Amino acid sequence: MTKKSSYTTDGKVVTLSSEKDVNLRLAEIIGKKFSDYRDEWDKANNMEIVTDFPLFLHLDMNQECNYKCPHCIIGTPAEVKEYYEGDYINFDSFKKIIDEGSEHNCPSMEPQGNNEPFLIKDLHKYIEYAHNKGFIDIMLNNNGSALTSKRSSQVLDSGLTRLRFSLDAHTPETYSKVRVGSIPLERVIRNIETFLELRAKGNYKLPLVGVSFCKMKQNEHELDDFINFWKNKVDMISVQTYVPPTPNIDKYKIYYSTDQLNSEPINEFKCVQPFQRVVIKNQSIAPCCVSFNKNLIIGQIGKKGAIHKAWNSEKMNNIRDLHKRGEFYLDKTCNDCVNLIYPNNQIPRN
Ligand SMILES: C[S@@+](CC[C@H](N)C(=O)[O-])C[C@H]1O[C@@H](n2cnc3c(N)ncnc32)[C@H](O)[C@@H]1O
Ligand code: SF4
Ligand code: SF4
Repeated sequence: MTKKSSYTTDGKVVTLSSEKDVNLRLAEIIGKKFSDYRDEWDKANNMEIVTDFPLFLHLDMNQECNYKCPHCIIGTPAEVKEYYEGDYINFDSFKKIIDEGSEHNCPSMEPQGNNEPFLIKDLHKYIEYAHNKGFIDIMLNNNGSALTSKRSSQVLDSGLTRLRFSLDAHTPETYSKVRVGSIPLERVIRNIETFLELRAKGNYKLPLVGVSFCKMKQNEHELDDFINFWKNKVDMISVQTYVPPTPNIDKYKIYYSTDQLNSEPINEFKCVQPFQRVVIKNQSIAPCCVSFNKNLIIGQIGKKGAIHKAWNSEKMNNIRDLHKRGEFYLDKTCNDCVNLIYPNNQIPRN
């Protein structure tokens, strides 16, 4: 790692990249249209502009996973049942969503939410469809268990730009505790290495590959070793802030990292997600990726133009205005969310 830099897009995920900022590398590979999109993204993130259509379509495709990580909502099926409804996104509804995005030149998307994306049969065909429809930044997180070499080759040809492997541990002991039900860590590492070898052999520039670590009380002692192990092997390392997945704080507070518990109270919070994206959770359109945001739902997919309508709806404009003013506490869901992210928040909290 010659030059170390770090950046964050949402205040929750910090990416440490080697040599150059990941977005600069992508701009070099993809060209001016990529840097133009990032310029627009930065303006939206600074709340300087509201685009006519979201810059990012985040698709929470289904709630199926082969792991049961205790810090993730998927680890508790009763909570999934409480907070999710509607049919999963199948290839037909996926195509309709992508077609609408394409009509509006939407630049980025992620076909993964609270699930394991590689359990979707032919996932590469979904990615290819979005790529062929003009999406220039297509990203995914995965747990690394289902990426066989055959599927790796399919992914390399699909148009994916960023592929992150969530590990959350450096040692097998910690891995099996924070990633319950997992295959052994060494097999996941082998899958990542195979992917990197195939990428190198085929001279593919994309996707950039990263590993991620959700920092918690149970694994924080391994973060430095984790970074040292991976820093010269992958293009990016993401360190995620742990956020309790539901307001059941008594159950989830045991995962807060020491830093979070000792953090200073916040002075201000303005959420950028409603300026960047919509999250399509099965059939519902939401302004953010939080699992317990039923009250914030702004529409349903199905009818032509549904995403554009939801993005420009009065309800969505009100959510953006609320955050622009820094008055997140006026909305119960946003207030719960901020209090979960920042356990020492003192701005009106109930
Ligand atoms: C929900 S997973 C879905 C994709 C895939 N199954 C995986 O594990 O990468 C997406 C990302 O969210 C992270 N994550 C899960 N629960 C979290 C939590 N409570 N706080 C912060 N990040 C979390 C995971 O570590 C992973 O990097
Ligand atoms: S592998 Fe991903 S989706 Fe599955 S339980 Fe763990 S964090 Fe959640
Ligand atoms: S609940 Fe509110 S504060 Fe939390 S991510 Fe969603 S919009 Fe942002």
